[in-house]
Amino acid sequence: MPHSSTTQPTFWVRDVPVYGDVILSPMAGFSDLPYRSLCYDYGSAMSYTEFASADAIVQGKEINERTLRILGYAPHEQPIVFQIFGNSVEILLEAAQRIEPLGPSIIDINMGCSVRKVSGRGAGAGLLREPAKIGRIFAALTRAVSVPVTGKIRLGWDEDSLNYRDVVRAMTENGASLVAVHGRTKSQNYGGEANWDAIADLVAVADVPVIGNGDVATVADIKAIKAQTGCAAVMIGRGAIGHPWIFQHRDRHEVSFAEKALFIRRHFTLMRDFYGEELALILVRKHIARYLKGYAGIKDLHLGLVTVQSVESFHQLLDAVVERLGDFTLGSTLDSAPADTEEETSDECQSTEDYSQSASKRVDWTRSSSALPA
Ligand SMILES: Cc1cc2nc3c(=O)[nH]c(=O)nc-3n(C[C@H](O)[C@H](O)[C@H](O)COP(=O)(O)O)c2cc1C
Repeated sequence: MPHSSTTQPTFWVRDVPVYGDVILSPMAGFSDLPYRSLCYDYGSAMSYTEFASADAIVQGKEINERTLRILGYAPHEQPIVFQIFGNSVEILLEAAQRIEPLGPSIIDINMGCSVRKVSGRGAGAGLLREPAKIGRIFAALTRAVSVPVTGKIRLGWDEDSLNYRDVVRAMTENGASLVAVHGRTKSQNYGGEANWDAIADLVAVADVPVIGNGDVATVADIKAIKAQTGCAAVMIGRGAIGHPWIFQHRDRHEVSFAEKALFIRRHFTLMRDFYGEELALILVRKHIARYLKGYAGIKDLHLGLVTVQSVESFHQLLDAVVERLGDFTLGSTLDSAPADTEEETSDECQSTEDYSQSASKRVDWTRSSSALPA
């Protein structure tokens, strides 16, 4: 069901109401329709697609199958935000015009991707070096499409060019309706800490709603970033992978593994419906690794699940994990195994690699075991 229209919206993106203030981050390789719609059902207030390449969208007569899958959404996910990336005003414009008939509530421009293949070509965070071009992009798109146009940024290219104020001015003077900001520079990638003070500064100068993002992983963090920055809403990325319960304001240790297993089965069923069995069995593995993160004493089953080959063994292995972990919550079994600390950035690279290649490559990399996330 769409989030309640019986209460007042928490904030507006121009004329689009948003109910709630905690949002799943766009994440290539994770925020696909199955996972995103489940997070929405748990309370994520807006649905951002994974980023889609503007170049890929404008290539050919028809939008290719892979891009259509990225931009697929469940009807109840409202508002649905289509995120695109590119380095050319004209191509971003044409891409926005091409995807508008698919029904997004909002079109968002990615200006935060730090992966070299994207930012090095002047797209994603690469755009932060060219505020004037950002202005031209927003001027063109806001005139050409009828839905609000928004942007997701980082604080700047590096410490010496923290130009988020200029970037936001370029956006809002040219019609942007919302800014989401990851409180790091491009150079930081995912290192160090997100700078919430800079987000607070941006909130103070922006005349549109600001979504704060970076290092929010617990219910206490949600409260803290809101209090420190005054942002209209909070976006959660890595902290929501394997933990959709954050959108119900529940921390990892508050959910028993038995409850997690029920969710994992539902998640997998949606993946199967969406991708087909073969691909779902491959794509589910990286989620499984995150669901199992932090549990001790299941190494053998963990290995089985992240290499699972059939639906039958998926369910059998999960049954075995439930049997072993019973009703334990993470708090009672946690053994923060260092091996469980995944490298989110490498996932992003992997997915981005996928995005910047041809349509059929998505299936190719997911089938190649050497390319699978660890
Ligand atoms: C695997 C992965 C994929 C990502 N893909 C995207 C993307 O497609 N679009 C985007 O704007 N940001 C993307 N990001 C960045 C996140 O949206 C978010 O800004 C970042 O992870 C910081 O938030 P966090 O500390 O809550 O994870 C991605 C991040 C990760 C870890």
